[in-house]
Amino acid sequence: MIKIDANTDIYCILGFPVRHSKSPLMHNKAFEILGVNACYVAFEVRPEDLTDAIKSIRALGIKGANITIPFKEDVIPLLDSISDEARDIGAVNTIKNDDGILRGFNTDGVGFIASLKENLINPKGLKVLVLGAGGASRAIVYSLIKEGAHVYISNRTMQKAILLCNQMRQFSTSIQTLDINDTGARDTISDVSLIVNTTSLGLKPDDLLPIPITYLNKQHIVCDIIYKKTPLLKEASRLGIKTIDGSGMLLHQGVIAFEIWTGLQPPVDEMRKQLEIS
Ligand SMILES: NC(=O)c1ccc[n+]([C@@H]2O[C@H](COP(=O)([O-])OP(=O)(O)OC[C@H]3O[C@@H](n4cnc5c(N)ncnc54)[C@H](OP(=O)(O)O)[C@@H]3O)[C@@H](O)[C@H]2O)c1
Repeated sequence: MIKIDANTDIYCILGFPVRHSKSPLMHNKAFEILGVNACYVAFEVRPEDLTDAIKSIRALGIKGANITIPFKEDVIPLLDSISDEARDIGAVNTIKNDDGILRGFNTDGVGFIASLKENLINPKGLKVLVLGAGGASRAIVYSLIKEGAHVYISNRTMQKAILLCNQMRQFSTSIQTLDINDTGARDTISDVSLIVNTTSLGLKPDDLLPIPITYLNKQHIVCDIIYKKTPLLKEASRLGIKTIDGSGMLLHQGVIAFEIWTGLQPPVDEMRKQLEIS
């Protein structure tokens, strides 16, 4: 148990909603194991209160924060500086408070790549289909192309996929859009190695699949960044296809945030255990 006293440092996650977050469990376990006098709490912040919430990080001397839905983009103008990566992605999920100077980072993309690598998947030269063009997709697409993957982006609203693709072209030309409803799309998909669902389809057990199951084959690896076993992962597993869920990405974005805040190497396996048991 963490002993809270007058010198305890505070870290937090700001989001709306946020009560489902598993981040407090993994970070508090890391503080406990390393003997750091700190604790991590969740603050549910109404969108109209975001500016005040960020000011209070400075006023209260909160040492660091994670930012989640729906604030990852809106928080940027409220910070003193952001990393090159966060600027290129256009979103911040981690804030470090350096004596009142708030610096923003994005650890979602690198966290996703770390979760691929621990599954022995090297993105370099890999053909990847990314489903979705929202905030998480931006970080993942950026990190995949930086690692040398060839990325196809598909989205329900194809206009958003085209916009994302055009923005990311400045970092790599190995990126194109693919409308999975087009004739011929199935052939292209049969040739990719990795399919990543970044849409919110799958959060609910009765959600539709983000891609027709008939498009999947045993050469594919199917990844869903939602933490739990989604209908897509269940169907792919049933067909004998290798699957990866979003818990590795959640873990590793947190590990990298912890390193940014404290300069310490956190106990990764213990943090993973917290995510598994919760
Ligand atoms: N594992 C992790 O660490 C981690 C980190 C971040 C996010 N996530 C998860 O990733 C998911 C997406 O987050 P986000 O921040 O990217 O959200 P977001 O910015 O709101 O984007 C949502 C995406 O899902 C698509 N979508 C939503 N409803 C759909 C439907 N009924 N049919 C087809 N597509 C649909 C949207 O398409 P349109 O553009 O057409 O609306 C958009 O591409 C969430 O489930 C979140 O929990 C996981």
